[in-house]
Amino acid sequence: MARKRLIVGNWKMYVESPEEAHAFALALRRRVRGFKGLEVWLAPPHPLLPDVSHVLESSPVRVGAQTVSAHSDGAHTGEVSAKTLKKVGALFTLIGHSERRIAGDTNELVRAQLERALEAGLVPIFCIGERERETDGEHFELLEAQLTSALSTIPKNTLKKLVVAYEPVWAIGKHAADAMQPSELQEMVIFIRKILADMLDRAAALRVPILYGGAVEPQNAASLITEGGVGGLLVGHSSAELDQFLEIIKATQN
Ligand code: PGA
Repeated sequence: MARKRLIVGNWKMYVESPEEAHAFALALRRRVRGFKGLEVWLAPPHPLLPDVSHVLESSPVRVGAQTVSAHSDGAHTGEVSAKTLKKVGALFTLIGHSERRIAGDTNELVRAQLERALEAGLVPIFCIGERERETDGEHFELLEAQLTSALSTIPKNTLKKLVVAYEPVWAIGKHAADAMQPSELQEMVIFIRKILADMLDRAAALRVPILYGGAVEPQNAASLITEGGVGGLLVGHSSAELDQFLEIIKATQN
């Protein structure tokens, strides 16, 4: 059976107050009921996670985190461990989002975060993406390095739940017209699958959902999936606007 499409909302810091998050989650719970053929996941800021997860508990929407500590426990002021995230209701965590990498998360740190997430039983959504498009194809090498530096030393049997999100950094935060074109995306998906197949085996690589993120809006959501060949979408700004997020979900039902 084909895997369901996966639509992940990354609220970043767009949703700020507990009241706003609570009302959003309640409305989302009510309005996603009729949608079919897809899974909806949502990543609120850490402090809002327990309540959003509680509100969405008996709904089809799953909740997760935007990042996770590379440490498992101990003296790490300000960090939040994978175990804690799991305990307050997270099912998954984003790892290596470009905004975290710009803030200092190196490939090494990202690998440690991936290990901690897997140990705690969180599904990792591993983000990769080039900052710029190089005409000489340098972005392919960068993507390969991001994937192999994090995944090659991790026992393959622990990667069964891996999700990869390809997010070209130059498209993030922009509008639909600036997003990657579906035809170009198709080429990237083939490339990422090939790298995964070299590291895992072919059957395992085919099972890894590859998402696209970067300027996903209601008008380009469906074509990125059907023509771009991805298994779902990672949605930033449009996931923080309930109506836009619902339009994306509606457009990508299968
Ligand atoms: P965007 O962000 O949809 O606002 O471009 C996507 C992301 O950064 O995950």
